[in-house]
Amino acid sequence: MALLEYENLSIALPGTARPVLDGIDLTVSAGEVVALVGESGSGKSVTARSALGLFPTGAHVDGHVRVDGTEVVGAGPAALRAIRTGTASMIFQDPRAGINPVRRIGDFLTEALRVSNGWSKGRADDRAVELLGAVGLPDPERHLRQYPYELSGGMLQRVMIAAALTAGPRLLLCDEPTTALDVSTQAEIMAILGRLQRERDLGMLLITHDIELAAAVCDRIYVMYAGRIVETAPTAQLFGAPRHPYTAGLLGSSPPLRAPAGPPARLTPIPGSPMGLLDSAPGCSFAARCRSARPGVCDRTPPPLEGHGTALVACHLAESLTATDNTATGEGT
Ligand SMILES: Nc1ncnc2c1ncn2[C@@H]1O[C@H](COP(=O)(O)OP(=O)(O)OP(=O)(O)O)[C@@H](O)[C@H]1O
Ligand SMILES: [Mg+2]
Repeated sequence: MALLEYENLSIALPGTARPVLDGIDLTVSAGEVVALVGESGSGKSVTARSALGLFPTGAHVDGHVRVDGTEVVGAGPAALRAIRTGTASMIFQDPRAGINPVRRIGDFLTEALRVSNGWSKGRADDRAVELLGAVGLPDPERHLRQYPYELSGGMLQRVMIAAALTAGPRLLLCDEPTTALDVSTQAEIMAILGRLQRERDLGMLLITHDIELAAAVCDRIYVMYAGRIVETAPTAQLFGAPRHPYTAGLLGSSPPLRAPAGPPARLTPIPGSPMGLLDSAPGCSFAARCRSARPGVCDRTPPPLEGHGTALVACHLAESLTATDNTATGEGT
């Protein structure tokens, strides 16, 4: 059984032309690192938040999300509390948005332990010091007495990771955990997350715009476009032979992590703009931006997510497009 499992999850908001999420199938096993990538507005954060039962207000939710076998859709407060304070934790993009600026770091970290577990202040402080040590903050005792404004963004994100580990979760949902940080701090935070994941055998869903980062740390990657999974494959395969023209476009528009010697490769943006919630398309959502799209096919019916080798791809042309075709589509030919 997967630690995190989405089965045909759809979320629709009133007054919109297309669902926010449209039949999402996704799994994360214990100890597995899985990336969810896609452009802004594709539904990555809504997907991650759904694992904690945090659905948009007024949304119509259909399908299933299970965390360690517990159904989240329609779950009552007790079941949700058990997931949020036990099995699963979430790390967000901006650490300052998730912490009360006028409370000390120590109080922030120990509150849950003292309230939920009934621990004494001394015992909870010891645990907080241990967790701050685990995320690589030197002099943790001093940090417990500090306020958030006294810490840099990178230090504060370490505090948030420590907070996420308080209850000993088995699943970590990381929503762009390094986007708000400078480049060298991004690398440090990713290294810490990677080490903790291995040490604690955590299942991890890593949401990122950065497909190269996903490649560096993940076992499998899901590519999302306009609320649908359009491709998923083991990392090496997705990079070596992207099947969906959108995946190929993403790869062609991001700078490589380890650039080869010589002049930098030309990056090619994907033409057009992402589809908003007020736009809908009868066929493939990507057809209007896809250089390979076939009129009368791609703009007529939505392509199902189907197996091609070890990949699942939602593209009418997945069999006929080769990696070379896809590279060509990304180069403005
Ligand atoms: N609580 C909400 N109420 C109404 N609409 C929402 C809500 N949350 C998200 N949306 C809409 O759902 C769509 C998907 O949003 P989501 O935040 O999941 O995108 P994302 O892929 O995480 O984008 P980004 O990369 O910018 O973080 C967007 O059109 C967004 O405006
Ligand atoms: Mg987001």
